[in-house]
Amino acid sequence: MGGEILAPVITIDGPTASGKGTIAQRVAQALGWHALDSGALYRLTALCVLRVGGDGADEAQAAGLARALDVRFESGVIRMGSEDVTEIIREETVGNLASRVAAWPAVRVALLARQRDFRRAPGLVADGRDMGTVVFPDAPLKIFLDAEVEVRAHRRHKQLMGKGFSAKLTDLLTDLRARDARDRERVHAPLVAAHDAVTVDSSHIGVDETVAKVLDLWSARGLA
Ligand code: DC
Repeated sequence: MGGEILAPVITIDGPTASGKGTIAQRVAQALGWHALDSGALYRLTALCVLRVGGDGADEAQAAGLARALDVRFESGVIRMGSEDVTEIIREETVGNLASRVAAWPAVRVALLARQRDFRRAPGLVADGRDMGTVVFPDAPLKIFLDAEVEVRAHRRHKQLMGKGFSAKLTDLLTDLRARDARDRERVHAPLVAAHDAVTVDSSHIGVDETVAKVLDLWSARGLA
């Protein structure tokens, strides 16, 4: 071994509905890099738990399902086996259970190598909660993307309505607060900005401006 040059990684961590996914995709597109939506792996695990009739209370079961995930990411489509699960994993029931199974250390360990496998040339943009702290601690650029909880609830509401799902703003706000608390307060790999992360608050700036900010920060690293 020795002398192996690892592809660069930009990590984008932050709370639910902060826009991480959109920003990560757009930054990856602009740079011609790969993208990892790590939350999708926790959502897929939750979907498997639901389908075997579990409730996320059995750590070993959830970890076994995480290890056995048969998933493929194909330009915007997520397949589990031959099934297109792109939309179903975005449902609130799946997201809420994902945040619970994600608290289990055995589940996190089961998904670790799978996430690191996404690191390929020319580079990777990875979004989640612990990309900069646990999965890619050596990433040369780490972003912590934050936004006020009310702004995030509005965005999620708009997104769900646009997809034809019904949702009440007040329920979404309650859910987001509960998920934030669970993600931030868990013992294993909690949602926290890495000590060397740059915090970007997207409450009052749009997607284009946020993407431009991340690309500027990357250029300023002088590694491109
Ligand atoms: O980013 P998201 O909303 O799709 O993530 C769903 C859940 O998965 C989230 O509530 C917490 C968990 N998650 C995590 O614990 N670690 C990650 N790197 C990504 C997501």
